[in-house]
Amino acid sequence: MLKDVFVPQEDIKAQFEAAQRVKEITGGGKKAYIATFGCQQNEADSERLMGLCRLMGYEKTYILEEAELIIFNTCAIREHAELKVFSKAGGLRKLKEKNRRIVTAVCGCMAEQSHRREKFLTSYPYIDFIFGTDRLHMLPQMVENALKGKKLKVYISGLSHDKFGVIAEGLPVVRESNYKAWVSVMYGCNNFCTYCVVPYVRGRERSRRSADVLAEVEALVKAGYKDITLLGQNVNSYKGEYSFPELLRRAASFEGDYWIRFMTSHPKDASKELIDVMAENPKIAPHFHLPMQSGDNRILELMNRRYTVEQYMEKAAYIKEKIPHVALSSDIICGYPTETEEEFENTVKAVDKVGFDMLFTFVYSPRIGTPAAEMEQVEHKIKTERFARLSALENLRAEELNSRFAGQTVKVLSDGLQDGIYKGRTGQNKIISFTLPQGFDEEKAAAGKFLQVKVTKAAAYTLEGEATE
Ligand code: 5AD
Ligand code: SF4
Repeated sequence: MLKDVFVPQEDIKAQFEAAQRVKEITGGGKKAYIATFGCQQNEADSERLMGLCRLMGYEKTYILEEAELIIFNTCAIREHAELKVFSKAGGLRKLKEKNRRIVTAVCGCMAEQSHRREKFLTSYPYIDFIFGTDRLHMLPQMVENALKGKKLKVYISGLSHDKFGVIAEGLPVVRESNYKAWVSVMYGCNNFCTYCVVPYVRGRERSRRSADVLAEVEALVKAGYKDITLLGQNVNSYKGEYSFPELLRRAASFEGDYWIRFMTSHPKDASKELIDVMAENPKIAPHFHLPMQSGDNRILELMNRRYTVEQYMEKAAYIKEKIPHVALSSDIICGYPTETEEEFENTVKAVDKVGFDMLFTFVYSPRIGTPAAEMEQVEHKIKTERFARLSALENLRAEELNSRFAGQTVKVLSDGLQDGIYKGRTGQNKIISFTLPQGFDEEKAAAGKFLQVKVTKAAAYTLEGEATE
C-alpha cells in the first residue's frame, strides 16, 4: 500500500483552524451552494466539501441566490457534461455583481485540465478560485485566501503529470440523504482506457485503509443508513489490508438490516471470489454494474480494456448463475474511433445476448489528451444513429427482463411520497412505485424504511406494485 498518500493529520487540523478564521471573518450564519455534476465520486466529494462548509459557518442551501459561497464540482467525462458546467457558470456573473462578498469556486475533473482552467480564468473572471480533485481538503484555506482578497486563483498539484494524488481522512461530511450513503474505498485509476479522461484528472489508484472504510460503514449502519455504496473507479483493484471481496464481505457483516452496493467493477478483474461473496451474502444488494463498453474484440483492444467479448460473456454468465435475482447493468460507448458498422453490430448482438437490466449508452466524445481523441473519428451522425439503435434494442430487452418480477413480492427501500406516489428502489436498484393497501401504517412506508411490495406491473424501467402487510 502507498503510505505517503495520506494527508498528515496536522494538515487537516490546520484546515479546521482556517475554517474557524473564515467564520470569524464572515461572522458565520451564511449559506453555501454546491452544484455537483457527473458521477457518484463527485457526489461523495461534494458531501465532504459541504462538511467543510459547515465547519466554516456556511449551512447548505439549494437556492443559488441566497448563497455566499458557491462551488461548482465539475465533470469532464464527456463534452456534454463540460458544456453544462460552462452554461451554468455564466450565471454567476450577475450574482457576483450584486454582492461582491460572494465567494465562487470551481473544482472537480474539469479543474484538472489545463485547457479548461484557461477557459475559466479568461472567460469567467468572477470565479475566485479553481482547485483540483486532490485539493478538496484545503477548502477552508482557499476560502480564507479569497475572503482576504488574495489573488491566488489556482490550486492544482498536477495529477495529469503522474502524481498520485492524496487521501484525506477525518474530514467532516454533510450527507444528502439520511438513509443512503457513499463510502469511497479508493481514488484514481490506473487503467488508461484510451477514451477516458479519468486517469488524467483523478491521479493514480490509491486505497483507503480497510479499517477506516469499515469504521465508516459501521457508523453509518448504527446511524440507521440502509443503502451504502462502496465507491471507486475500479473497486477490484482495491489494495488495502483486505482484498476487495473480503472488504465487501466484512462491510456486509454488521448487525442490522441494510444493503451494501459497490461501483464500479472492471470486467478484467471482477473475480469469481467477488461474485461468490455476493452470492453468499444477502446484505449485498443483487446488482452488478459491469461496463462492457463494446462487444467487438478489435474495438476492445483499441480501447485498452484487456478482455475479450468471450471473457466478458463468461463473467456475465457466472454472475447470473450464482447470484439469485441479480440485475446486471453495463455501459456502452457508440462510435468509438474507427468503429465499423459490422463492429457496432457485434456490440448490438452481444448486448442482446447478455441481456442487461440497465444499459447506459454513450455517444463517444473525444477527450483532449487521451489516445482515442487522436484516432480517426466516426462521423457524428453515425454515432448518434448507433446510439439510437442500441437504446431501442435495450428498451425491448429491459422490458422483457423486468417481466420476471411481475407477480413477485420484493424487498423495497422506500424513498417516501413523491408527488403523491410512493417510490422506492429494489435491491436490483430498480425504481418501483407502489400503493399502500387500506389500513397500512404510513409510517412503515416512509423514506428510509424497508418493506415488502408485490409487483403488479413491470415496464422497461419501472415497476409498480402494492405494499403487503
Ligand atoms: N466518451 C463517451 N463515453 C465515455 N465514457 C468514458 N469516457 C467516455 C468518452 N470519452 C463512458 C464509459 C464509462 C462511463 C462512466 O462513461 O462508458 O464507463
Ligand atoms: Fe476510465 Fe477505464 Fe479507469 Fe473506468 S477503468 S475510469 S473507463 S480509465
